[in-house]
Amino acid sequence: MRTIVITGGTDGMGGALARHFLTVGDQVAVIGRSRAKFDALLSAVGDPSAADRAEFVAADLSLVADSRRVVAHLTDRYEQIDALVLAASFIRNRRHITTEGHEASWALFFLSKFILVIGFAAALRASGRSVIVNTSVPGAKADSIDFDDPDLTQGFTFGKSNAQQRRANELLGILATRDNPDLSYVTWGPARLVRSSFAGDVGIGMKLAATVLAPLLGQQPADAVRPLIDLIDNPAPGRAAYRGPKPVPLVVGPHDKQDAIRLDDLVRTNARGA
Ligand SMILES: NC(=O)c1ccc[n+]([C@@H]2O[C@H](COP(=O)([O-])OP(=O)(O)OC[C@H]3O[C@@H](n4cnc5c(N)ncnc54)[C@H](OP(=O)(O)O)[C@@H]3O)[C@@H](O)[C@H]2O)c1
Repeated sequence: MRTIVITGGTDGMGGALARHFLTVGDQVAVIGRSRAKFDALLSAVGDPSAADRAEFVAADLSLVADSRRVVAHLTDRYEQIDALVLAASFIRNRRHITTEGHEASWALFFLSKFILVIGFAAALRASGRSVIVNTSVPGAKADSIDFDDPDLTQGFTFGKSNAQQRRANELLGILATRDNPDLSYVTWGPARLVRSSFAGDVGIGMKLAATVLAPLLGQQPADAVRPLIDLIDNPAPGRAAYRGPKPVPLVVGPHDKQDAIRLDDLVRTNARGA
């Protein structure tokens, strides 16, 4: 039985993956904020044994302290983690500061992922055939990170914040695979719009996409995650990037290794949260 940890596993694509892996008999830890959604998901699986193989960990992953608490709790519980799926999402197109003082999208879409990836390193290594699927759309430009102002106190735009976290998540793969060459680290985005919950505090354009376009044109989460199930079932060591089922090139910048180390230093010295 594999152990699979899924952030954002209560809804959308993370929820579809949690349902799938519970249905096929894996042990699944679901991280999210809503226990009610988790209970509904468990009922939808319809297999009484799923409750014994499923765990809900309530956490607000936009808080560094909560992300660290999740790592402490799950590493205490599981010596081995076979797959880590990073799919928590709360879209904000305005700058918002967390109670710890971080820009909320940077905190949720990158700091928490960094803390989980690094914090679970030993448990992932113990698997020998582990995979991290990071649902961060690949392809952001190499110079997208503002190393001097990652909380974007100056000149925040949704585009800048989005590109910055996506680039940081690609570089996180360098850190994750550096000490664990057997690890598969995949940055992945769906091939097209997905009919998910689009959790967030968004403007009219995105609201329209969520309420009008997604139901008309969007894929069902269960269909969108099929390529992810393959990537998790057949992990290939090293870094890779995909849109839907299709591999896409990793963006190669002039200083990727140095930028990854810079990011590592930045988070270790600047991530506030008890
Ligand atoms: N949908 C698309 O078309 C699309 C396109 C490109 C990329 N993506 C990416 O795919 C991934 C999944 O997106 P989705 O659209 O399937 O998501 P979604 O349906 O909006 O679900 C978001 C999930 O994140 C959890 N979450 C939100 N804020 C959280 C927080 N502060 N702490 C912990 N958990 C939190 C929610 O759980 P609770 O409600 O329990 O907190 C929920 O399980 C994301 O990385 C997204 O960027 C999606």
